[in-house]
Amino acid sequence: MLRPRPDVPGPFQWPLLGSFVPFARDPLGFVERMATDHGDVAFFRILEHDLWMFSHPDDIEQILVRDAKKLHKDAIYDLLRPMLGNGLVTAEDDVWKRHRKLAAPSFTRRHVEQYADTMVACTRSWLDGLHRDQALDVHEQMMLVTQRIVLDTLFGTDLDVDTTEVGHTIDVLMAEFVQEAQGPGRLLPKAIPTPSRRRASAAIEQLDRTIYALIEARRRKGLGDDLLSHLIQARDDDGGLSDVELRDEAVTAFVAGHETTALALTWTWVLLGENPVEVEPLLAEVREVLGDRPATVADWPKLPRVQATIDEAMRLLPPVWAIGREAQEDMVVRQYTIPKGAQLLISQWAVHRDPRWFPNPLAFDPSRWLDGLHDRLPRFAFFPFGGGPRVCIGQHFALMEAALVLATILQRGALRTTGPRPALMPSITLRPVGEVPAIFA
Ligand code: HEM
Repeated sequence: MLRPRPDVPGPFQWPLLGSFVPFARDPLGFVERMATDHGDVAFFRILEHDLWMFSHPDDIEQILVRDAKKLHKDAIYDLLRPMLGNGLVTAEDDVWKRHRKLAAPSFTRRHVEQYADTMVACTRSWLDGLHRDQALDVHEQMMLVTQRIVLDTLFGTDLDVDTTEVGHTIDVLMAEFVQEAQGPGRLLPKAIPTPSRRRASAAIEQLDRTIYALIEARRRKGLGDDLLSHLIQARDDDGGLSDVELRDEAVTAFVAGHETTALALTWTWVLLGENPVEVEPLLAEVREVLGDRPATVADWPKLPRVQATIDEAMRLLPPVWAIGREAQEDMVVRQYTIPKGAQLLISQWAVHRDPRWFPNPLAFDPSRWLDGLHDRLPRFAFFPFGGGPRVCIGQHFALMEAALVLATILQRGALRTTGPRPALMPSITLRPVGEVPAIFA
């Protein structure tokens, strides 16, 4: 065992494998150990890749904000390209810049506030289908709610195309993606059509047919307030987005936009289940502010404990647990020169549980957010949505959605988890393994 860069902190490395085995076995434990054992900078190798992990908020700010132009996203996003095309999550450089400019006005806080009523209506109609003491899987149910919300806000509700099909096809694709990223198939050349790859291609064809039908139906029926209509209307000096570009942005918004929020809500219920004393103050706030009437956008700022509970859940179990970048040129962070081609890793999981910023970091304590902690923290001590030019475009949408969905459910009861905390599966997002059983009570 050796340390390939004795001048940089980091773990001893196996020949050829580097840290592959401990990383693959337990990615969350591994990044946490890097931060606690080696400090704000850790260097290690995963097979042939050099990785630099940074865990100090100032360095993270430099990487995500000031030096963003020197970096691209890391290679894992290439696996998503067959599904997402060149949408905002996967695009780089000029294409990304143009799309981001065209899409940004549709995602401002002001703009997404108009979707509050749809979010509440979708949640209430889902609640109407539940009965008291019903046993359910929290993750599955939160996915159903956020999928309905993203479909209704993205495509509107007036088109005669079945949008549930989109959700189903993308679920198939995401499962194939996880298989490709984590299964043995990732070692095979891309040209070999494994059964999983064949299923993925068929699902992409199916998805494309539906999305193009939706774009065509939207054009035929006339534009509305849905996100797709806004993207169709967006213009710059080079005109608007082509149908292929619209397809890529619609699929991207769908994929990036519902699983993450569903996870924020799922982990909120899991943590509330482990800390039942936190439920009563939440119920009290919701009762006082909303009573029985449907929540509106004006209620959102009046629900600080609801917001604090979601923030605390995203701190401890962040839906996106790490951000990866690849240096496009040599760059200097602290005293280290990071060569072109090296990978940079920043982990919300590790930083969000750093006792320098969060005393008693493993405790689920929503109250810590209630006295202005956001303003006192360094900007990148808490960053569930990333930061800099590639910050999550959907963050206002997601924050409002999570708060309104949680408050609307609490008006009628709570999802009380009945089992231990599920095992965690750190794919691109931080998912539960298997079901998260609960009772609606
Ligand atoms: C709790 C919910 C969410 C979380 C935690 C989350 C987190 C993130 C993070 C960390 C990034 C940056 C990734 C990176 O820098 O490598 C990101 C990017 C992105 N997110 Fe979200 N997200 C959420 C909800 C949403 C929603 C609701 C939408 C859309 C409706 C959305 C659309 C996007 C898009 C399009 C990008 C790529 C932006 C770009 O590169 O220009 N996200 N998200």
